[in-house]
Amino acid sequence: MSVVGKDIFDVDVLTSEEITQIFEMAKEFKEVLKRPIKKVPALRGKAVCTLFFEPSTRTRMSFEVAAKRLNADVVNFSASTSSLKKGESFKDTVKTLDAMGIDLYVIRHREPGSPMMLKKYTDAVVINAGDGIRAHPTQAILDGYTMWEKFGTLKGLNVTIVGDILHSRVARSNAKLLNIMGANVTFCGPKSMMPFGVENYGVRVSHNVREAVKNADVVMGLRMQLERQSGGFFSSLDEYNELYGITSEIMKLANPSAIFMHPGPMNRGVEVITRVADSEFSMVEEQVTNGVATRMALLYLTLGGDDNDNN
Ligand code: CP
Repeated sequence: MSVVGKDIFDVDVLTSEEITQIFEMAKEFKEVLKRPIKKVPALRGKAVCTLFFEPSTRTRMSFEVAAKRLNADVVNFSASTSSLKKGESFKDTVKTLDAMGIDLYVIRHREPGSPMMLKKYTDAVVINAGDGIRAHPTQAILDGYTMWEKFGTLKGLNVTIVGDILHSRVARSNAKLLNIMGANVTFCGPKSMMPFGVENYGVRVSHNVREAVKNADVVMGLRMQLERQSGGFFSSLDEYNELYGITSEIMKLANPSAIFMHPGPMNRGVEVITRVADSEFSMVEEQVTNGVATRMALLYLTLGGDDNDNN
């Protein structure tokens, strides 16, 4: 079992033991983040490059914070101000960055498979920060960690994921991770928003949110991804909210200790109402905090932090 040198294209490159190892390491780093000086020299001398070709607040910033907390050097590649604009190819861009001694790339791109494309041109570690609708492994890891921290295990946990499943890389990666860890997953949303072949995802499918949240320990809302939709998936946002919006009444149908989760950014009044998003059982801000700790753990473990003799 070793995460050292592993490219994190999706969560299925990891075993349940490796995911647990990441969770345990994240727990230790979360303690570091509570100290007055929130830094350890674990990755001193390593260089991390973030390549974001799609917008991001949480993922990009938390990778940068995580790398800095570990004392790595961080460079952020900006596509819009780079020589890509002068016609330089993606391959030459990566080779140029590689020549500067990058040890690990974090990439987000709208094209599914872009992290694997990047890997063709580099020996550095590659972490997928979201490729189109395909995968968002670090979101699933931070989500899984948030559930693990709250409930002590993922085994047997009932997790209901509600919303625009079709366009959601978060739903896809979460379903994989939760299956690896032995949780029970329900996808809930309109028929028009279920992916082709959903019967092969190892999840229960429901189109009725009231039925889907019964016995749920976790209710996860998903953002309506209007930028990936070509229209015709539902009549209006109001109708969607009426049928699938997560309200206090919906949360009352879940288990009494159930938590609400959302990867962000949230469309308040569409997939969730403010009273739920800001409630005491909402984990939305905790998820962001855990995003830093779990990404510290991933950077540390993939870059062989355990093997570095300068810790
Ligand atoms: N959850 C998530 O990926 O958020 P960002 O798009 O802000 O990174």
